[in-house]
Amino acid sequence: MSDVVSYVIDRNIAVITVKNPPVNALSQAVRQGLLDAIRQASGDESKAVIIHCEGRTFIAGADITEFGKPHAEPLLPDLLNEIEACGKVVVAALHGTALGGGFETALSCHYRIAVPEAKVGLPEVKLGLLPGAGGTQRVPRLAGVEAALDLMLAGAPISTEHAMQLGLVDRMADGDLREAAMNYAQELVESGAGPRRASEMDGESVDDAVFDAAAAMVAKRARGQSAPPRIIECVRTAMATGFSAGQKRERELFTESMSDPQSAALRHVFFAEREAAKVVGLSKETPLREINSVGVIGGGTMGGGIAMSFANAGIPVRLLEISEEALERGLSIIDSNYAGSVKRGKLSEDKAQKCRELISGATDYGSLADVDLVIEAVFDDPELKKTIFAKLDETCKAGAILATNTSYQDVDEIAKATNRRPDVLGMHFFSPAHIMKLLEVVRADKTADDVLATTMALAKRIRKVAVVSGVCYGFIGNRMLQGYFREAQLCLIEGGLPETVDAAMVDWGMAMGPISVGDLAGLDVGYKARQALPDHERGDPAAFRVPDVLVEAGRFGQKSGKGFYLYDPDTRKQSPDPEVQTIIEREAAALNIERREIPAAEIVDRLIYALVNEGFRILEGGIAQRPGDIDVVYIYGYGFPAWRGGPMHYASEVGLEKVLARIVEFRDRFGEDHWTPAPLLEKLVLSGRSLADWTER
Ligand code: 3HC
Repeated sequence: MSDVVSYVIDRNIAVITVKNPPVNALSQAVRQGLLDAIRQASGDESKAVIIHCEGRTFIAGADITEFGKPHAEPLLPDLLNEIEACGKVVVAALHGTALGGGFETALSCHYRIAVPEAKVGLPEVKLGLLPGAGGTQRVPRLAGVEAALDLMLAGAPISTEHAMQLGLVDRMADGDLREAAMNYAQELVESGAGPRRASEMDGESVDDAVFDAAAAMVAKRARGQSAPPRIIECVRTAMATGFSAGQKRERELFTESMSDPQSAALRHVFFAEREAAKVVGLSKETPLREINSVGVIGGGTMGGGIAMSFANAGIPVRLLEISEEALERGLSIIDSNYAGSVKRGKLSEDKAQKCRELISGATDYGSLADVDLVIEAVFDDPELKKTIFAKLDETCKAGAILATNTSYQDVDEIAKATNRRPDVLGMHFFSPAHIMKLLEVVRADKTADDVLATTMALAKRIRKVAVVSGVCYGFIGNRMLQGYFREAQLCLIEGGLPETVDAAMVDWGMAMGPISVGDLAGLDVGYKARQALPDHERGDPAAFRVPDVLVEAGRFGQKSGKGFYLYDPDTRKQSPDPEVQTIIEREAAALNIERREIPAAEIVDRLIYALVNEGFRILEGGIAQRPGDIDVVYIYGYGFPAWRGGPMHYASEVGLEKVLARIVEFRDRFGEDHWTPAPLLEKLVLSGRSLADWTER
């Protein structure tokens, strides 16, 4: 029939097979092939039809690479309406991940059979879209309004078993899926069950309160996002009007979302995340080292979280601490983390126990002699790290990968403490490491290609999003953060308050305000780091005067019950503290700063453009491989709103010329110490180029 869709009649059943690797996305060719096939099946001697896919998955969705290009017929909703209208029974046979338009294809079929391991879902919301091929209309009719809203607003895939409970899958397949689907189709024909069309089902009538509750939930959890309210509107329409009026509204809102910058940003993030996994200059054929066991040094919050990340992926971990007492403390934190996951319903008790059993404790380096990878996660002191790496060099077997979880230190220097520099690299996890998805993989100057390739592959195994960074102080993320925090502090002393600076950034979309982040991380950490530096390296006194005063007054942040804010000892609820306002005003006066009202827009621009300007330097210095990598770091590690696409995408959206003009304005107002435009940004603007076509290295 075509390269991507084939058609045969086997024992009276028309078998339509999609073969469009890697994920059978619904490209124009697939849509055309399916249309031709369903038309052929409608007119020939076959008794029923099955649609199934070759390769690792059923159709995983519309072809995202076609988005933003002119529409090419047949359009998916029309194709699916035609499949549904087929006069013969059509069965979808699902394996792998039937997602988005793929699941909508299955929903347009009359019956669905799935292997037990299959996952189905409507993840469009994660791309700033809504299911645009009947999903918002068919799911509520099949599964009910609440289930439909849950599925589409969360965008998370569900299991076959769950889908069966919701009425979205009819049967679980035993053995070979194609065979099982054919038998099912045969059985349906024999029993006289005709086509069962979701579009013809009556929707349940639900109280408006259900939609209002969903809208309230979305306003809180998906703050700032435009797709979720559109999804709610589609489902509301699905119930209030008939199928075709509902589908018309779905189409309008889908088209609206498609041209919404939020969707462009989220689609950029989708591809940037996948691109980040690829290391420039490293062949796909690079051999990988086997990693079947891991050692973690340091049982603090970080080490414990790292250990859990591996155990959760089924990899045994040996956790090393300096004393039995410290080890016990570390293991008990892990125990309570697992208990918390069970309590929150994230893990079953059984699974949690199995993971926990994979973590064993030790207090002697000899116990790391046979592990395939060691991650050092002790206090961020370079000398201590070097001592540890010298010991690892003596202890670990040949070929073991030695990684440091340092957030700032020079990985080249740490590697020099060993006689096996090619085996050493950085693996910078983010706290809490068992939850945060980002992993900065720091490539030192002598890191071997296979060590890097193995670590990138391992990151995927433990479900982290890995980004390669070169060696510099703070790598990609923390290096950029310095200017962001500096500007937050400067806005504070120049006229803001903790709550106004935080609100400006949270309203803009950041997960947490910068001042609250400082309180959460502990103000003493930065204080100690500053104290260790000579005076001339501490930076602008106006940017650390207030935090220094707070720390010296015993206000370390959340952990001491007060920092920039006050924290309720029981609930940790944050509240503003008038005393802090007095301190800020006093210190501003001492520094001869005349406080003024700072508009939220200025706060946002100063903080975000500080990030962006440093991002350009990081790119030009070759620390990040590509702009999208920086975006991935900020979205997965620093609470940057994905729907704004990350700092570099955002700068492109605003327009590099405008960004540069604002940075120049800040330079003229605040001085060039902080606001010298990055040379790469200037170069791009001067030559009229965009980040997308920047390829220099
Ligand atoms: N369109 C185009 N390319 C896609 C794609 C899609 N829908 N889904 C995945 N790909 C590509 C990836 O970019 C990647 O390409 P690369 O190898 O060149 O980097 C390749 O397929 C493999 O993808 P992954 O690396 O993500 O493979 P995994 O096995 O880890 O995951 C997956 C597979 C779960 C299917 C995951 O790729 C995924 O979640 N895909 C997106 C699914 C989705 O969002 N579907 C909805 C699309 S919107 C829609 O359908 C609108 C409709 O309602 C009208």
